[in-house]
Amino acid sequence: MQGPALDKIFLARPARTDRVYSKLSKFEAGVSPYSKRYLELGYTPEETELLIAFRVTPRSGTSIEEAASAIAAESSVGTWTEVELGDEEKYSKFKARVYRIDDNIAYTSYPLVLFEENSIPNILSSVVGNIFGFKAVSALRIEDMRIPLPLVNTFLGPAFGINGVRKVLGVKDRPMTGSTVKPKLGNSPKEHAYVAYNTLRGGIDTVKDDENLNSQSWSNFYERADETLKAVEKAEKETGESKGWWANVTAGDTEEMLKRCKYVAKNGGKFVMVDYLTVGFAATASLRKLTGELGLALHCHRAMHAVIDRQSNHGVEFKVLAKWARLVGVDHIHTGTGVGKLEGEFQDLKDRCNLLRKSYTPKEGGLYFDQPWGDIKTVVPVASGGLHPGHVWKVYETYGKDAFFLFGGGCHGHPAGSFAGAKAVRAAVEAAAAGVSPQEAAQKSKELQQAIELWGGVTF
Ligand code: 3PG
Ligand code: 3PG
Ligand code: MG
Repeated sequence: MQGPALDKIFLARPARTDRVYSKLSKFEAGVSPYSKRYLELGYTPEETELLIAFRVTPRSGTSIEEAASAIAAESSVGTWTEVELGDEEKYSKFKARVYRIDDNIAYTSYPLVLFEENSIPNILSSVVGNIFGFKAVSALRIEDMRIPLPLVNTFLGPAFGINGVRKVLGVKDRPMTGSTVKPKLGNSPKEHAYVAYNTLRGGIDTVKDDENLNSQSWSNFYERADETLKAVEKAEKETGESKGWWANVTAGDTEEMLKRCKYVAKNGGKFVMVDYLTVGFAATASLRKLTGELGLALHCHRAMHAVIDRQSNHGVEFKVLAKWARLVGVDHIHTGTGVGKLEGEFQDLKDRCNLLRKSYTPKEGGLYFDQPWGDIKTVVPVASGGLHPGHVWKVYETYGKDAFFLFGGGCHGHPAGSFAGAKAVRAAVEAAAAGVSPQEAAQKSKELQQAIELWGGVTF
């Protein structure tokens, strides 16, 4: 497919009908336009089909119809040339179809039979597969994907969901809270546990390891677990509240991650976390199986997501990454804040919440399809990245109470330290959920007042 545009190549080289070859073979080898077989505008997809809205930027000189059809071919049964099919009717049951094109969005349907049960890698290898590097396109983006109910039903989904995590923490009428221990790297296990203890007794529900804190030379995972779980127990006794530590079990291989989970469960932990994109979907699925058996809730950090989702004309929209995470079965996933240090528009945040929190997500906002969820539990959206206590009201307006508000620098950077930072966070979250204004809340909490004075003018 080098040289002239695809359309021109295909038009110049119609399917081969050379008589010499037709004597030798039972089929017509050669190259013909993809659209001949894969473009079926007006086709009504079955409820059982997987649907994708692709944003297609065709290569210069190629029509969107041909580029989209090339994508449908390569991501289902086709390749660059005609091959012997044997039973044409049989293979037509496996092919994808471009059934609608609106501007540069190509709606494409994939028969259910193409996919293996309970496998995100299989979906990715098919519909992400080769096509993003295809010469037919100069850019390509999956804007949305409707996973059909029969396929949804083959996944485990979250073990706890929003209600389950609330129950473990005993938090009812406000967002759940967490704090990522900072400085993010360099603390010894004892130093880490000390920060954790101060944070928990200050009023934050849980502490969390940072995404890149795994088991480095200065913070062996097992020693950190021993120390931090002791800190959690101490803070629980002191406050009379449920507390927790999201232990980052991310490791270089899946077996080690499973070993770390078992260690946390054996020593009384209730929560673990993983960087689900850097470890991969199969590893996360293995974790989900084990954490379900051990009764551990699973928090997912989305480190690496922006490589995949940030460009507006290429990659995979974050909402689709979030759908896959819900199917695999994470209880928490980072979704952005709108106000903090990471990119994210408010409408997008609402769409993300709808995908994670509803039992059926209708096509609205920036979504292209209805999404059924069957019996798959909900996921807690996590607002994190540059949050401080003064942001809480705006974040509450976007997320409401069924969410997890997570603070790193905005807790530990408090002028009076982590304990005071946690008090400020707790005061802000309780006030926002009760409809109390920041001014009124700050009058009742000197820690909150100090936090707002320090960070109120920060913009990203
Ligand atoms: C691959 O896996 O590398 C491709 O599927 C090669 O297939 P093709 O030769 O039909 O392009
Ligand atoms: C996270 O892992 O969510 C972040 O490290 C939060 O840290 P920040 O609040 O300091 O941005
Ligand atoms: Mg972090």
